[in-house]
Amino acid sequence: MAEHVWLLPIKNLDDDARAVKLGEIALLELGEGQRKFVGDPLRMMLIALEEESRYPFAVDVNGTAVGVLTLQRGAATLAGWPDDDSVWLLRGFLIGRQHQGRGLGTLAADAAVREAAKLTAGLGTGQAGVVLSVNEGNPGGLAAYRKAGFEDRGRYDGGDAGPQRIMYRAF
Ligand SMILES: CC(C)(COP(=O)(O)OP(=O)(O)OC[C@H]1O[C@@H](n2cnc3c(N)ncnc32)[C@H](O)[C@@H]1OP(=O)(O)O)[C@@H](O)C(=O)NCCC(=O)NCCS
Repeated sequence: MAEHVWLLPIKNLDDDARAVKLGEIALLELGEGQRKFVGDPLRMMLIALEEESRYPFAVDVNGTAVGVLTLQRGAATLAGWPDDDSVWLLRGFLIGRQHQGRGLGTLAADAAVREAAKLTAGLGTGQAGVVLSVNEGNPGGLAAYRKAGFEDRGRYDGGDAGPQRIMYRAF
């Protein structure tokens, strides 16, 4: 059965709802060998909450967080894009180990692009799409982004865990 994912904007929650959601996020675990690809989910959400340019989201299924992702403006060069401002950066993306392999990563990556388009419309900041970089040795990440319509825009050697692919999807 097709599942539905909902990207919940953590910054828009009231204090109580945010505390509950962060509690769920604190329980998310990565799989064996995945820690080199992404940071700690709770820590990434707390950092994003403190920064105006970052928009942290819980990936929710049936009202519970199964993953996280962050959209950031003005930071696309961190993924090897030639400038910072023309596109959104998607970062800190993960689906908890116990929820992986059900298509949720693909759905969440797709939803992130729609969410970024909405942010652009609301903020009037004019971005054209979403970019991210993914490690060449991360087949799950590469497959999920490809299935969500991201295209390979070449190699980026900036990552600390080895060469990355630059993946882009226009709105
Ligand atoms: C990358 C990630 C978000 C994918 O989430 P997911 O919910 O498991 O992804 P999906 O179920 O949508 O799978 C997408 C595709 O990847 C494939 N895939 C998943 N894990 C894989 C693996 N370890 N090796 C090879 N292919 C894999 C799936 O088979 C699927 O393709 P298919 O439908 O043709 O079979 C998840 O694995 C994750 O959180 N990994 C750790 C953090 C990370 O690497 N984040 C990305 C940093 S850029």
